[in-house]
Amino acid sequence: FEGMTVVELAKRCGESIATVQHIIVNVGEKIDSEFDPLSIDIAELVAMEIGVNVCRLHSDDGAHVLGRSPVVTVMGHVDHGKTSLLDALRQTSLAAKEAGGITQHLGAFVVGMQSGASITFLDTPGHAAFSAMRARGAAVTDIVVLVVAADDGVMPQTLEAMSHAKAANVPIVVAVNKCDKPDANPERVRVQLATEGLSLEEMGGDVQVVEVSAVNKVGLDKLEDALLLQAELMDLKARIDGPAQAYVVEARLDKGRGPLATAIVKAGTLVCGQHVVVGAEWGRIRSIRDMARKVIAQARPAMPVEIEGLKGLPMAGDDIVVVESEERARMLSEGRKKKFEKDRLTKLEEERPKTSELEE
Ligand code: GTP
Ligand code: MG
Repeated sequence: FEGMTVVELAKRCGESIATVQHIIVNVGEKIDSEFDPLSIDIAELVAMEIGVNVCRLHSDDGAHVLGRSPVVTVMGHVDHGKTSLLDALRQTSLAAKEAGGITQHLGAFVVGMQSGASITFLDTPGHAAFSAMRARGAAVTDIVVLVVAADDGVMPQTLEAMSHAKAANVPIVVAVNKCDKPDANPERVRVQLATEGLSLEEMGGDVQVVEVSAVNKVGLDKLEDALLLQAELMDLKARIDGPAQAYVVEARLDKGRGPLATAIVKAGTLVCGQHVVVGAEWGRIRSIRDMARKVIAQARPAMPVEIEGLKGLPMAGDDIVVVESEERARMLSEGRKKKFEKDRLTKLEEERPKTSELEE
């Protein structure tokens, strides 16, 4: 939408030029000519008013692009050891950083390797959160670690996680957990996964399987190596400069500091002091902290950070958009709130006939 004129925007949204002009005037913006380029914020606002869903795309042409760390989400069946595995990995990250001070609050943490490479883990398992994020187009995760207990084998939520990853086009690395258990049968897990259509590496496919024990902390280094290898194959890169494209991983309300959001920057750089729209909320970034709670001036791709300064509590999966002024932020947030409310009502409306049919 960047730099689009009223004429182009009208065409793209399938509306008359007069309607688009009317909306722009209604939101309090001036237009001198229908051939003047519109700002991306105004274009989004207009599109939302018309009812067109927008997704901001950023062009990386000619930008400074660098390799970045993979962002990994752990998924799997209930009790198969997702939390234990994350805890074990987090400890290796704690050990790597030597001192404590790493907050347990952030919904994400970074494991650093000897080689200097690092992996960002999202500590927000739960398929609902993953689906919600995906549904809103938040492509935050690069790789899914599918945890399968070696004693229990493939279960319904294992399959669910598999299909979520597939739908999101995110590659899987399998962690066969609880291999310390006497009744562990990793071979059976392999056969089950293959039967379910997962194309395992040892059978000529591309899905790596690593045997681990979260409790005994065995195989964690192998898992990390497998993730780095997978990341290498994906050749993950991100634009470094320019406005940040970021997503909320988790948000909470702090009594003293107000709404806090854990965010992951996907591209560009998020800078303290910037005006932002986050989902339907807005604010000005008052502080950015890294996972060691240190205040930093800016956040770069794949770095989990905590941001402070939002006026309201955003939701996991919300996008973070940098805008040029407080006025814009407020306006865009209002526009989005209206649009979300309209969508909600439309959805209710659509569901209503079904319920009345049921009643009859
Ligand atoms: P939900 O969050 O409820 O879905 O469970 P989860 O997948 O996070 O599993 P969690 O880490 O809570 O582990 C469930 C149980 O399995 C706990 O009692 C763990 O101690 C145990 N467990 C996890 N990993 C291992 C392991 O490697 N070996 C053994 N023996 N037990 C494990
Ligand atoms: Mg858990």
